[in-house]
Amino acid sequence: MSAIKARQIVLAARPQGKPRLTDFRLEETAIPTAGPGQVLLRVQFLSLDPYMRERMNARESYQSAIALGDVMPGESVATVIASHHPSFAQGDIVLAHTGWRTHALSNHADLRNLDPTIAPVTTGLGVLGMPGFTAYSGLRAIGKPAPGETVVVAAASGPVGSLVGQLAKLAGARAVGIAGGPEKCAYVKDELGFDAAVDHKGADFAANLAAACLDGIDVYFENVGGAVWQAVLPLLNKFARVPVSGLIAQYNGPSGGDGTDRLPATMREILSKSLTLRGFINYEFAAEHYPAFLREVGAGIADGRIRYREDIVDGLEKAPEAFIGMLEGRNFGKLIVRVDA
Ligand SMILES: NC(=O)c1ccc[n+]([C@@H]2O[C@H](COP(=O)([O-])OP(=O)(O)OC[C@H]3O[C@@H](n4cnc5c(N)ncnc54)[C@H](OP(=O)(O)O)[C@@H]3O)[C@@H](O)[C@H]2O)c1
Repeated sequence: MSAIKARQIVLAARPQGKPRLTDFRLEETAIPTAGPGQVLLRVQFLSLDPYMRERMNARESYQSAIALGDVMPGESVATVIASHHPSFAQGDIVLAHTGWRTHALSNHADLRNLDPTIAPVTTGLGVLGMPGFTAYSGLRAIGKPAPGETVVVAAASGPVGSLVGQLAKLAGARAVGIAGGPEKCAYVKDELGFDAAVDHKGADFAANLAAACLDGIDVYFENVGGAVWQAVLPLLNKFARVPVSGLIAQYNGPSGGDGTDRLPATMREILSKSLTLRGFINYEFAAEHYPAFLREVGAGIADGRIRYREDIVDGLEKAPEAFIGMLEGRNFGKLIVRVDA
């Protein structure tokens, strides 16, 4: 019998507000055996994404809540180590929904082969994966920036926001990024080529954003909500489009505002400026936009027009700490855990 055990991280307790390390539990289990039609995977890289926080709550969101004791969900890059399915061979590298674990069985339906000669396999979790497609589809299907328009996005150094701004630039628009701290802002402006970057943690954030958007905002790609949305709202132009992709500022619960109900002001702006706000989940646009996303963004990465940054943490046991940090902006780029390189 093999002495090597599989490891997994389960939801130990539902977080009240910010998650704590005690909300997670590392467990050892036997390595599973692939049955007929199944594939056994060893995880190389695990993706950590903001949506996982919503799934830790008891209430349903657009996805079901995780049960206590269940393995934390997540997408990964994995190696096929045993296959009883004709489409996959030992050694293949695939994108899979394994969750936070070292080994997993798959019935193959959720697997996608990755070709390491096209791009580093980790890009399948970021710029060429779910977050990248969120940026691409939200902009193409809802934001629709025209040349000369101003596009604003927060969490601008992350995998969604960084691609939103770069695609906006490629479409001929002005891109303004919002990020936390001078280092992230410098990266957004100097390395990603946004026209301006504004620090949402700095004093005078609202005034600085207004100064960076002198012609107003035509597309606001909403990734965070909270205080950022409040600063953006008065700057939106007539007929502005707002793809609502995420609200990370409120994933850990109410963000402790000043008690003012801003819904009436929001509704007034929606009416008086004929705004379009549309929430979306990336996969709703997959049938129409996924092939073009892979082609266009893949080409942009290959020829250097599109840049990306990854923040890779070593060891499955570090996943809870890294995940908690991401919700507070401690990641710098697409957050990935190297489980077994
Ligand atoms: N609709 C969809 O299908 C879909 C799919 C994927 C992702 N999303 C959403 O897209 C957003 C970005 O995801 P990502 O994977 O690209 O994450 P990310 O940028 O790698 O990480 C999250 C970032 O959010 C920022 N942040 C956290 N709290 C904030 C606050 N209170 N105010 C302002 N910024 C805050 C931090 O950056 P700073 O340090 O710069 O503040 C943090 O680094 C999330 O809301 C996510 O849920 C939606």
